Amino acid sequence: MAKRNRSIRPTFIIEDDAARETWSGYRGRIDGAKLAMICPDFRDRTVFVCGPAPFMRAVKTTLKEAGFDMSRYHQESFNFDDFTEEAQDKITDATEEIDSGVRVFQLEFAKTGRTIECPEGMTVLEAARRAGMRLPSSCSKGLCGTCKSKLTSGSVEMKHGGGIRQREIDAGMALLCCSRPRTDLVIER
Ligand code: FES
Repeated sequence: MAKRNRSIRPTFIIEDDAARETWSGYRGRIDGAKLAMICPDFRDRTVFVCGPAPFMRAVKTTLKEAGFDMSRYHQESFNFDDFTEEAQDKITDATEEIDSGVRVFQLEFAKTGRTIECPEGMTVLEAARRAGMRLPSSCSKGLCGTCKSKLTSGSVEMKHGGGIRQREIDAGMALLCCSRPRTDLVIER
């Protein structure tokens, strides 16, 4: 990237030397002093951070302590555990719905070996999310086909937006984001 774009200037900070190599650049971990040397005008910039959580925490703390305007701080996250609190709230909501006498279907995921409950009217994807399962999905509107899965048994009411073909439906496939169980299901996932 740096070869193709001169405005990209990579800087490496290493923790330790390799067995037969000695590093002559920055070493240790990122901190305010190193940041100021690498990028003296960092306070005027926008920061995008991606990496292991302790690294991102360290960068965030460093920037805060340096008086950086945190509205220009952006952080990547691939870890849904970050949303555990929100997920827990949803599980509580779902439990309340289940307790309130709504009909509940059993959804068995054959490959993962999990069985979860899905209140009547809820989509399979939403029920899985509330149970803390991570299923492939993208649009959540029946358009993209990412959540397409095979139903080994049971039936659903599916209102899709074109993300599945009739011949796939005939072969027992369904889009989990817009499928509401009519019966207990076994899903090949
Ligand atoms: S997530 Fe896009 S069709 Fe289901």
